[in-house]
Amino acid sequence: MNKLFFIRHYFLPTAFFSLVINLLQIAPMFYMMQLYSRVIVTRSEEAFWLLSILLLVALLVMGALEIVKARILVSANNAIDAIIAPDLLKKMVEGATSPEQNPYHYALKDLHTVRTFLTGHGIIQVMEALWLPFYLLIMYLMHPLMVFVLAIGILLMGCVTVVNEYLTSPALAEANTASRNTSRFVDSAMQNAEVVNAMGMLPSLTRRWASLNDRVMALQTRASNRAGTISGSTKFLRILIGAMGSGVGTYIVLKNQTFSPGLMMAGGIMFAKALGPIEYIITGWKNITDARSAYFRLDKFFKQINDNPPVIMELPPPTGQISLEHVTFGIRSNNRIILKDISFSLAAGEALGVVGPSASGKSSLARLLVGVWKPLQGVIRMDGADISNWPSEKLGGYIGYLPQDIELFAGTIAENIARLDEPDSEQVLAAAKLAGLNEIILQMPNGYDTQIGEGGAVLSGGQRQRIGFARALYGSPRILVLDEPNASLDTAGETALVNALQQIKAAGITTILITHNPNYLSNVTKLLILQNGTVAAFGAKDWVLAQAQQAKNQQAQVST
Ligand SMILES: Nc1ncnc2c1ncn2[C@@H]1O[C@H](COP(=O)(O)OP(=O)(O)O)[C@@H](O)[C@H]1O
Ligand SMILES: [Mg+2]
Repeated sequence: MNKLFFIRHYFLPTAFFSLVINLLQIAPMFYMMQLYSRVIVTRSEEAFWLLSILLLVALLVMGALEIVKARILVSANNAIDAIIAPDLLKKMVEGATSPEQNPYHYALKDLHTVRTFLTGHGIIQVMEALWLPFYLLIMYLMHPLMVFVLAIGILLMGCVTVVNEYLTSPALAEANTASRNTSRFVDSAMQNAEVVNAMGMLPSLTRRWASLNDRVMALQTRASNRAGTISGSTKFLRILIGAMGSGVGTYIVLKNQTFSPGLMMAGGIMFAKALGPIEYIITGWKNITDARSAYFRLDKFFKQINDNPPVIMELPPPTGQISLEHVTFGIRSNNRIILKDISFSLAAGEALGVVGPSASGKSSLARLLVGVWKPLQGVIRMDGADISNWPSEKLGGYIGYLPQDIELFAGTIAENIARLDEPDSEQVLAAAKLAGLNEIILQMPNGYDTQIGEGGAVLSGGQRQRIGFARALYGSPRILVLDEPNASLDTAGETALVNALQQIKAAGITTILITHNPNYLSNVTKLLILQNGTVAAFGAKDWVLAQAQQAKNQQAQVST
């Protein structure tokens, strides 16, 4: 059972209160009817007071229930967010690392839609519609003709709804898609603003935007025109049918002497009462279907991602021994194998260099090693335990990962190094020193408390890379995976990196270093050559290098 069940749990009290309140709302109508049909006729003051007191009590109860209901709604609103949103964010982020599914960016927005519907006006109107049969029954008891006329009215409005859905929904959906595409285009233009400005791409960019935007406007105009026509006809129908309540009542009085003016008035009010929710359902149909589809998307999302992490025994902190057994990775949706049957193992504290041409699968191997991608076949073990059995929060503490494209977060340098946790100054300092970054940070305006801006905008590429490196070293990682850590470093940065690698080796941290620079290979004991997603060679560094040299020589001999 997933946490969405919780939403249903709040739904019931809301529904209950709405139903009772709705029932009490017709008290004034009965009061009026009794005044006309009894009190006026019998001229009994006693009955007048009794009825008035009863009315007062009913309305007081209604008011009290309204207050309670409002409180339940507010607390439901907060609780739904507090209980479901953090889980949702976690699943969204986890899902976003999968190369298979499209990331579900809209999960939090969907939750907001469902929440607004369930705790707002919408659900109450739907609840009121549930009273419809009850109103119909009372009206039937008054006079069947009233029900007949109302039924025809409802039928007509129902037809209008269907036509509405049929005409406006596809038009609106099309307009929304176009509008989303346009804003995506603007987003990417803003992100690439430097390129756009530097190379004079502005005129063509504007042209493209204008043609996208023209289409949005045309589609929106069409959708709005249709919606306007529908809402006009709905209004006409509703007012006509509403007025017919009194009309039918009067007609019955004319034809039938026993039907009193009190009943006539009550009939009119019943009519209006029954029509209210129907009108809402028609005009608010979009809200209802939006909430419904958001709910089902969320439900599907919760179901597709494993809700219960495997229950495992508390494992001791790993020593850093790692082994891959016949690991194959590929992308199911496009039938592509990226890594084929990779097997190797490293003892705790060993350092492995991974080399290979571009697109040979080095970064993919890194993602598998840190557990953000799961092998299609085979297992990756740390100290003998399958890493996919580790809860990611636990495993993450033992892993230091410097991805090829580093992403930093808006915040201070210290917060970024501390992996967004409350920074532990001693550990931040240790990581920064190890990354050879301490002096550089101290020269910044606020030292470790310097805000680095959105994505680290304030920093140079090399500085970002080194902060990413310090972040990988933060805490006590047992396994370090560095994906081309020298990509944007200057000479000083490279020296710092080589020194750091020496110290890391001395500290006994298992290291996997993806690099093209032979300088860094001086610190590794083993070497793996990847070619086209397979292991071309693996073993002690000197041996692998000698083999590669031999192969080269042989090739040279063959070609001469
Ligand atoms: N998220 C992804 N979706 C689809 N294909 C991918 C993805 N990441 C990598 N690939 C493909 O996998 C192959 C290996 O990529 P990668 O591991 O980045 O190689 P390297 O780091 O050695 O340059 C490439 O052909 C690339 O197109
Ligand atoms: Mg790469």
